[in-house]
Parts: sequence; structure tokens; C-alpha cells
Amino acid sequence: MGVTMGLNLLLLMAMVATNILSLYHLSSTLQTPKPPTPQPVPDHLLHQLHTLRATINHLTRDHPSPSTATAKTTKPDIPSDLLLYSQLSPIASSCHNHPDLVHKYMTYTPFSLCPLDSDLAEALILRGCHPLPRRRCFTRTPPKPTSSLPLNPFPPSLPDSNVLWDKYSCKSFSCLGGKNPNLGFDLPHEVSNFMSYKSELDLPIPQLFQIAKAANSVLRLGVDIGGGTGTFAARMKLYNVTVVTTTMNLGIPNNEAVALRGLVPIHAPLQQRLPVFDGVVDLVRCGHAVNRWIPATALEFLLFDADRVLRGGGYLWLDKFFSKGVDLEKVFGPLIGKLGYRKVKWATANKNDSGGIKNGEVYLSALLQKPVSK
Ligand SMILES: *[C@@H]1O[C@H](CO)[C@@H](O)[C@H](O)[C@H]1NC(C)=O
Ligand SMILES: *[C@@H]1O[C@H](CO)[C@@H](O)[C@H](O)[C@H]1NC(C)=O
Repeated sequence: MGVTMGLNLLLLMAMVATNILSLYHLSSTLQTPKPPTPQPVPDHLLHQLHTLRATINHLTRDHPSPSTATAKTTKPDIPSDLLLYSQLSPIASSCHNHPDLVHKYMTYTPFSLCPLDSDLAEALILRGCHPLPRRRCFTRTPPKPTSSLPLNPFPPSLPDSNVLWDKYSCKSFSCLGGKNPNLGFDLPHEVSNFMSYKSELDLPIPQLFQIAKAANSVLRLGVDIGGGTGTFAARMKLYNVTVVTTTMNLGIPNNEAVALRGLVPIHAPLQQRLPVFDGVVDLVRCGHAVNRWIPATALEFLLFDADRVLRGGGYLWLDKFFSKGVDLEKVFGPLIGKLGYRKVKWATANKNDSGGIKNGEVYLSALLQKPVSK
């Protein structure tokens, strides 16, 4: 027991140290280069520190050693699997900030059917509670799935019977396709994506292969960050390149669609470390999901994680990243520059839709090559 406690404390201290280090790093990058005058600590950092302290308090309070836990009268309304899990996995910091949701998620009957709550799981993941506690229940599956699944990643249609539609407002793929062709569910419409050059922002895949070939760099493995229904991975599959797609559902069955196309969906949010080992992939693409909506510090971590998984000589493709023009110049351009990658392509253009005009936004399409050695 003493050993477990000691280990927990050690892990806790390691976590605190890491967080403080990253806060230190953030605060040091946020300061303007005027060392002698001490800068006031920005409010959001104070807020982060406060959250961190609250989390630590929570962790130390909520993880007594097993013997004291049993000595105390445990509240009967806490799901027993949640108690069990928190003893097995004492540190899962972000989950502790949303005890109500975790509590709801862990309220189920072990060894029977799980509640229909994939939306609840996603809500937790989006709040940084990842990995989620594991559960011992059986996830529901569609009652009458078809076994004739498409082998082609661009089938004329996807089988509706292989999706649980209960949580979605549309109840079929054709409904989703008809709603908005840009959602990526109208597959005949998706076939032409990534293949043509309409403006300098485009990088058709044949051209990408030419660039890689000319640089003596082979493309075999990739990660598409925020890849929606997986059309980039689908096109790359036809070139015999394996691409995994991180995608969140956000009210539409993106993960289901990727899988029904015979591609690998990874249900991971943008703020999460990619579940891929260091230096192993040839290409990382950041699509529409990655743009100015992401706080600059979160984007910095995302880019450094992309760097982590890329091999030397691999490519980072920012596909139509958009931000305010002034921010691209002052914030995002320098941030991307921190990677020290070779600019193979760097194209910007005004974003001419109504939102873009209103906010003075621009697009950036960049293909960057990671240096072979630092
Ligand atoms: C992909 O692999 C298949 C089977 O080996 C081959 O027939 C096809 O030509 C390859 N496609 C490309 C674009 O290299
Ligand atoms: C926006 O309009 C300008 C001027 O017509 C054009 O040069 C630019 O390419 C357009 N941007 C996009 C993204 O189409």
C-alpha cells in the first residue's frame, strides 16, 4: 500500500512538473523580448494554473490509498466501475475537470448492453478527457448490417444499415449528402477532390507524388488530421499509400463513414497527442479542421506533434489553413517557421466567401519538408 501511494505521488509530481514546465514554456514564448522588466502573468495562464491546482487537489483528495477508501463509507451513488477505474488509473487529469460527465459515462450495468452514448464519450474526449475509462459492457451494433461492404473507398453509396442513426438528425447517408455536399458524404462528388488544380492553393495528389519523387522521398504512410469522412485517405489508398484519418463526429457519422470506406478512423481530437510512434510517417496533412479557430498555443503543440511523428524528409501539408491576414503574418507564419522546415510550397490567397471578407481572412496552402537531421 505504501508503495502504491508512493508511486501515485511520484506520478503526480511528474505530471505537475510536466505541466509547470509547459506553462513555463508557454509563458516564456508569450513574453516579448524585454527581459529586465517583469511582465504581468496573463490572465489565461493564471486560469490554467488555477485549474491545475484544482486538479491536483482533486487528485490528492480523490485518491486515498485503497485501505482508507474502504474504511470510509463510500457514497452509494458512485458507479462502482468508476471507483475501480480510479484506483487502477489514478492520473487522468482532464477527466477530473468534468466529474459529472465521467460519472454519467460510467453509469451503466457491467456485463450487459452499454447505453447508447457515443455522443457523451465524444463530449468527454473533446474536453480533453482522453483516453476515456474503459468499460465492461457490450457496445450496441446495428441490428441488420449488410455484409456486402464496399472494397472501393469511393463506392456509389454507403450502406445505411451499418450505422446506428439514433443520435443523428439525418437517418441516412443520402440525407447527409443532400444536406451539404461539402460534408463529404456525397461520394461521387468526392471522387474529384485532391485531383485538380483550380488555384494556386491546390496541390493535386499526382503533383505531390512528383514532388516527393523528385526529392527522392517515398510516400507510403500518412496521417490526415481532422479528415472528415476520409476522402484524402481514400484517394491515397488508390495510390497504395496507407493513411489513417483522425476525425470527430460532431453530430454526423464521420467515423462510421471512414470505416465503411475500408479506411482507418482514429477518434481523436486535435488537442490530443497522435497515437503514433515518433518519426515513422512520411506525410501529415492538416485539412479544414485545422485553422484559426484553434488557439495559437494549441496549434503550436499540434504542429510539434506532427513533427514528432514525421520522419526526417517527411512532409507536412497545411491544406487551405485560414486565418486573419494580419495573424498569418504576425502569429501563424512565425509559428510554422519554428519547425525549421523547407518550404516546398507556400501559397496564400484571400478567402473570398462572406465570412472571409468580413474577417479579412486569407488561406495558406503550404507543403513543408522536415529536415533529415536537426
Ligand atoms: C497499387 O497496387 C496494385 C497491386 O499491387 C497495383 O496493381 C497498382 O498498379 C498500384 N497502384 C499504383 C497507383 O501504384
Ligand atoms: C479571391 O479573389 C482574388 C481576386 O479576384 C483572387 O486573386 C483570389 O485567388 C481569390 N481567392 C480564392 C481563394 O479563390
